[in-house]
Amino acid sequence: MVPLSLPLFLCLLLAVPLLAAAQQMSSFSATDKPWRPTDSNRTLVSPKGDFAAGFLAVAASSPATYRFAAWVVGANSTDRAVIWYAHHTNYSPSEAGAASSLAVDAAGSLSWSDGAANSSSAVIWSPGPALSSSATTTAALLLNDSGSLLYGAAAWSSFGEPTDTLMAGQAIPGGGNGTTLQSANGRYRLYNAATLQFNGSLFYANVSSGSALLNLTDDGKLQLSGATQLIASDQGTTNRVRRLTLDDDGNLRLYSLIPKTRRWNVVWQLVQELCTIRGTCDAGRICVPVGADSVDCVCPPGYRNTTLKGPCTPKKNYSGSGKDDKFVRMDFVSFSGGAATTATDPGPLMSKLPPKNLADCESTCRDDPKCVAFGYKFGGDRTCQTYTALQDGYWSPATEMSTYLRVVSSDNDTNPFTGMTDMIQTVCPVTLALPVPPRQSETTIRNVAIITTLFAVELLAGVLSFWAFLRKYSQYREMARTLGLEYLPAGGPRRFSYAELKAATKDFSDVVGRGGYGTVYRGELPDRRAVAVKQLHSVGGGEAEFWAEVTIIARMHHLNLVRMWGFCADRDQRMLVYEYVPNGSLDKYLFAGAGAGGSNGGDGEEESSSSSSEQQKQQQPLLDLHTRYRIALGVARAIAYLHEECLEWVLHCDIKPENILLEDDFCPKVSDFGLSKLTSKRDKVTMSRIRGTRGYMAPEWVIHREPITAKADVYSFGMVLLEIVSGRRNYGFRQESVGSEDWYFPKWAYEKVYVERRIDDILDPRIAASYDDAASVATVERMVKTAMWCLQDRAEMRPSMGKVAKMLEGSVEITEPVKPTIFCVQDD
Ligand SMILES: *[C@@H]1O[C@H](CO)[C@@H](O)[C@H](O)[C@H]1NC(C)=O
Ligand SMILES: *[C@@H]1O[C@H](CO)[C@@H](O)[C@H](O)[C@H]1NC(C)=O
Ligand SMILES: *[C@@H]1O[C@H](CO)[C@@H](O)[C@H](O)[C@H]1NC(C)=O
Ligand SMILES: *[C@@H]1O[C@H](CO)[C@@H](O)[C@H](O)[C@H]1NC(C)=O
Ligand SMILES: *[C@@H]1O[C@H](CO)[C@@H](O)[C@H](O)[C@H]1NC(C)=O
Ligand SMILES: *[C@@H]1O[C@H](CO)[C@@H](O)[C@H](O)[C@H]1NC(C)=O
Ligand SMILES: *[C@@H]1O[C@H](CO)[C@@H](O)[C@H](O)[C@H]1NC(C)=O
Ligand SMILES: *[C@@H]1O[C@H](CO)[C@@H](O)[C@H](O)[C@H]1NC(C)=O
Ligand SMILES: *[C@@H]1O[C@H](CO)[C@@H](O)[C@H](O)[C@H]1NC(C)=O
Ligand SMILES: *[C@@H]1O[C@H](CO)[C@@H](O)[C@H](O)[C@H]1NC(C)=O
Ligand SMILES: *[C@@H]1O[C@H](CO)[C@@H](O)[C@H](O)[C@H]1NC(C)=O
Repeated sequence: MVPLSLPLFLCLLLAVPLLAAAQQMSSFSATDKPWRPTDSNRTLVSPKGDFAAGFLAVAASSPATYRFAAWVVGANSTDRAVIWYAHHTNYSPSEAGAASSLAVDAAGSLSWSDGAANSSSAVIWSPGPALSSSATTTAALLLNDSGSLLYGAAAWSSFGEPTDTLMAGQAIPGGGNGTTLQSANGRYRLYNAATLQFNGSLFYANVSSGSALLNLTDDGKLQLSGATQLIASDQGTTNRVRRLTLDDDGNLRLYSLIPKTRRWNVVWQLVQELCTIRGTCDAGRICVPVGADSVDCVCPPGYRNTTLKGPCTPKKNYSGSGKDDKFVRMDFVSFSGGAATTATDPGPLMSKLPPKNLADCESTCRDDPKCVAFGYKFGGDRTCQTYTALQDGYWSPATEMSTYLRVVSSDNDTNPFTGMTDMIQTVCPVTLALPVPPRQSETTIRNVAIITTLFAVELLAGVLSFWAFLRKYSQYREMARTLGLEYLPAGGPRRFSYAELKAATKDFSDVVGRGGYGTVYRGELPDRRAVAVKQLHSVGGGEAEFWAEVTIIARMHHLNLVRMWGFCADRDQRMLVYEYVPNGSLDKYLFAGAGAGGSNGGDGEEESSSSSSEQQKQQQPLLDLHTRYRIALGVARAIAYLHEECLEWVLHCDIKPENILLEDDFCPKVSDFGLSKLTSKRDKVTMSRIRGTRGYMAPEWVIHREPITAKADVYSFGMVLLEIVSGRRNYGFRQESVGSEDWYFPKWAYEKVYVERRIDDILDPRIAASYDDAASVATVERMVKTAMWCLQDRAEMRPSMGKVAKMLEGSVEITEPVKPTIFCVQDD
């Protein structure tokens, strides 16, 4: 009992004198003496005690000035969240000195006047003009349990005159025309209940594209026009005090009061990238995010600040003749053109030029003495823009933009804005050479020669046979593209807040997979789109690094790759948001009875068999040969794309049936690609060792501990290919059918194909019945022989993934490979 009673005692000790000092009123009327700001802690409180109103001293004002405000009572007597203040028609707060007072006069009208309670003194504030006629002597000022101040028979309500906050159930006055909310510092406003603006006109965000805000409901939904809504992460919980506030930093946030502690939680916020808010940094500065909820404003290289916050100016001026200057590239940095008048107007400080190459863009800027910088976008449309002043600069990998800053040639400042170099220099295609092995038998060298020749030949070979296949699936591709675009507003992945994802996944309740990289949850975005949220473990590096990597992953678009829509980097949380692929992973279909479960990105051996996915319990349909072939080809193409066509050369490092998800019509989608890039450099060595899955890891990876190359993925794919054909795990097969200690699936399969000539022994017995026509025989043969090439012991003997796809397609002939030798993974 001792540990309990001490805090309780302290609590009483503190509370008693406070209660005694405070004068709490439930109403204020003509019978009460005038209310002065200095009346010791005199407040008006709501019946349930959640809200209070009174005078608050303006910080750092001398002599002291006061505002008349209503607030939510917080955890202690000094903790209050102001939800309304008496204000002028331009929303600026009404303020007055200690001598002013609020009073209800004999005629029943309420006013706050400066000086004494004397009818001739100036009125600072008085509730709505409609009041004078309908006021009565018995009228009283009240504060109700929704947080609204009410006065008089005409029912003046502070809800009708919002300042920076909207409460639950509060209707937006004037149908939302004009300024809806204005931040307390006067810099930002919510205009027409739809857009956020800085300095009266500079647009920077939409509440929701195309719809306006209607109101906040009691259970935490933001109702929008067009019957849409935005959902807070604690939506559904009633009896919570919530407020939607346009904060002084220009962001619109929904706060929810935790009843127990009476502290506020942010349950929704409009702008995720705070640096995109106009006016965050002064001229010349670049806004850089620091954590999820703060920013830093730094000077670019060659510039300096004379004061702590003010603008940054050049350290030295160049002549403008184009002879004594140079350009410094700042990656992922862009500036705005200043006060734009419409959404398409670039603003007076920027010129948007028709697409140019980098050299032309640079000389355009150099030729103009007024040009201080130019912006260039490498990907896509090669945007070129020039600036005459640096306004609203910010760093965000989502922009994919670089700004070239013009500085004097002697400038030697270090440039902290780098990171795009890798991307620019490894622009596709990355060609994978097939090196000749240093010491090998003559037959091997001959085989290599054959492969190398085939490589040349295949360039000429068309993929006509697959044209029909592609056409059939192009509709899916279009769909994915359309869906994806909405989530890539600025050309990059969308950033989600932790609260948003917590709400989307119902507090991370529906686990659909667990693995080495993290746990996967099923979720639903407010627009009802199903997503898989992967909560990553052991991701090192800073937020900026994570962001840059995620941007690269999000750029990988392929019909057979799971699409990434966004990510979350909130304090130490790192999450990826993917499209949800409903049918689950390939292993469930292939290894019937194996009991493996999981959907999206089940990347681990300890795959969960979560009870929430009822589909796992159902009998899975048996995949026919044609479907298996299509799956194999799709996966091969996706990995070939990763290896050879992407901006960055990406190894998958964990190809296995669990990471192959199946869409409608069994269109395969490879998941978990690019994740090995997200692990920190420090962890990379150890991580990669654990990453691969037993049974799918290439020999050089397990035995020699050599660096992992693209050929390791080829090996894993070969193993998966054999499993697709046989319907059995490469290691499970051995225990069932063959007792020998040194049994090795690829070796066994090789003998079946090239020695015994009994390919049908490898084929899944469940589909053997359909293996009767020549076309099926040819398909199986192609799949098995391709796998034999992929499973070569020596990495350099394995074909590239692009080549593998061609082998599967049948557009190149497959020669006889070297026999894979004994290789025992089991006891490593
Ligand atoms: C109001 O209460 C606080 C303690 O909560 C006290 O420090 C302050 O002096 C009081 N103000 C007046 C004017 O009495
Ligand atoms: C009151 O609460 C605020 C925030 O909730 C806290 O910062 C402050 O220290 C508290 N003051 C006291 C006297 O407990
Ligand atoms: C009313 O205010 C005026 C100046 O504002 C002052 O001259 C006058 O004495 C005041 N009357 C009373 C009764 O306080
Ligand atoms: C408080 O007053 C406002 C404005 O008139 C009204 O919308 C709201 O329903 C009232 N709340 C309660 C609990 O009576
Ligand atoms: C909030 O909006 C909904 C939908 O338009 C409407 O039905 C409801 O009456 C509104 N509530 C208030 C308090 O305005
Ligand atoms: C808002 O403004 C529009 C256009 O100016 C007007 O048509 C509409 O009637 C206004 N709505 C209200 C409620 O004033
Ligand atoms: C805000 O607008 C005013 C004029 O409308 C302009 O003079 C001022 O420079 C602007 N401030 C910023 C920071 O853009
Ligand atoms: C905001 O909404 C308007 C109208 O729907 C649209 O034209 C504009 O592109 C939107 N802007 C952003 C940044 O979403
Ligand atoms: C310039 O700003 C930085 C922080 O951004 C600050 O550390 C430095 O003191 C400032 N320089 C001057 C001269 O105020
Ligand atoms: C650069 O030029 C501007 C005006 O042209 C001037 O105000 C500034 O002092 C100059 N800066 C230096 C470092 O000479
Ligand atoms: C940069 O140049 C200045 C002179 O222009 C020199 O004093 C300074 O040491 C140089 N800094 C570096 C890091 O080279």
